[in-house]
Amino acid sequence: MQKYILIIGACGQIGTELTLTLREQYGNDKVIASDIREGSESLMQSGPFEILDATDYDALEEVIAYYEISEVYLMAAMLSATAEKFPMRAWNLNMNSLFNVLNLAKEKKIDKIFWPSSIAVFGPNTPENQTPQSTIMEPTTVYGISKQSGERWCSYYHHKFGVDVRSLRYPGLISWKTMPGGGTTDYAVEIYHKALAESAYTCFLKEDTSLPMMFMDDAIRATLELMQADGRKIKIRSSYNLAAMSFTPSEIAKSIQEYIPNFEMSYNPDFRQAIADTWPSSIDDSQARKDWGWEPAFDLKKTTREMLDNLDKS
Ligand SMILES: NC(=O)c1ccc[n+]([C@@H]2O[C@H](COP(=O)([O-])OP(=O)(O)OC[C@H]3O[C@@H](n4cnc5c(N)ncnc54)[C@H](O)[C@@H]3O)[C@@H](O)[C@H]2O)c1
Repeated sequence: MQKYILIIGACGQIGTELTLTLREQYGNDKVIASDIREGSESLMQSGPFEILDATDYDALEEVIAYYEISEVYLMAAMLSATAEKFPMRAWNLNMNSLFNVLNLAKEKKIDKIFWPSSIAVFGPNTPENQTPQSTIMEPTTVYGISKQSGERWCSYYHHKFGVDVRSLRYPGLISWKTMPGGGTTDYAVEIYHKALAESAYTCFLKEDTSLPMMFMDDAIRATLELMQADGRKIKIRSSYNLAAMSFTPSEIAKSIQEYIPNFEMSYNPDFRQAIADTWPSSIDDSQARKDWGWEPAFDLKKTTREMLDNLDKS
C-alpha cells in the first residue's frame, strides 16, 4: 500500500526540514505540506502544499481523505515565549490541534501520529540535572502546561483506543535553514546570524543558564527513527526524553570565538530568563537509547561549525 504523509505546521523551524527530509525518503508527491501560511521556496516548490488550519477538524478530515493520508506529523503550535503573551490562543491551538488528529486516528481515518512535546513539560521542582524520564513535572508556563496535558492525552488515546501516537520531548533546536518561531532557546540560533553579520550579540538569557539543546539534523533523525521503529519497541506513549548536549550562553560564545575571535557577547536578560530558570539543565535520555536505539551525532563544536559554514554560504 502507498503511504501518504501530511505535515501540519510544515513552514516552521522544524516542519520545513522535516518535510524536505521526508520528501527525500518517500518521494516528493507522497509528502503533503500544510500550514496557515506559505513557506520557503524549497518547501513550496518541492511537492504538494495546502493551506490548512490545524484547529479546523472538517478541513483536516477533507485533506486527509483527498490525499489518502495514513501518517500525520503535527508541528503546528504556539511556542513558549509567545504563549506567555497569548495564553488562551496558545491553549486553543496547542490542545485543539492535538485533539483533532487524535480523534481522526481514533476514527481510523489515519494510522499513525507524530506529535512533539518539549523540555517545557518540566518545572521548578523537577530534578535539574540529568532529568529522568519519569519525574516531578509541575510546569509553570502556558506552553509547558499545554505540552504536559498533551502528553497525558496521547498516552490515554494509545491505551484506551489503540491510537499509534509517538512523541519526543525536544530540547532547544538549532538550525540554519529556518528561523525559530518564538521559543526560549531562540538565542542559540540568533547568535550565529549576529556573529556573522555584526561580530556581536546581546543575549536575552544570563551567561550561566545551562539548557538542553540539539542540532536540527539530530532532531529530524530522531523523529524518523522513532516513527519507523517497530511499534512493540515504543514503550513510552506519553513522550520520550531526548538529549544531545547542554551548554550556557557563555559556552556557545566561546565556541563561536574559535572561528570569529573578535566576536563579542553581552547580556540583557528579559522575561525569557524566568522561563529558562524553570527548565532542566540536562536530560537523561537512556530510555530512548534503550527502546529504539537513539544516539545523537552533534555536539556543540560540530554544531557551531555546521551553523557558521552553512549560514556563511547562504
Ligand atoms: N523549535 C524548538 O526548539 C522546539 C523545541 C521543543 C518542541 N518544539 C515543538 O515542535 C513543534 C514545531 O515547532 P517549531 O519550532 O517548528 O515551531 P514554529 O513556530 O517554527 O512553526 C510552527 C508552524 O505552525 C504554523 N501554525 C500556527 N498556527 C497554525 C494553525 N492553526 N494551523 C496550521 N499551522 C499553524 C505556523 O505558521 C508555523 O509555520 C511545536 O509543537 C513545538 O512546540 C519545538
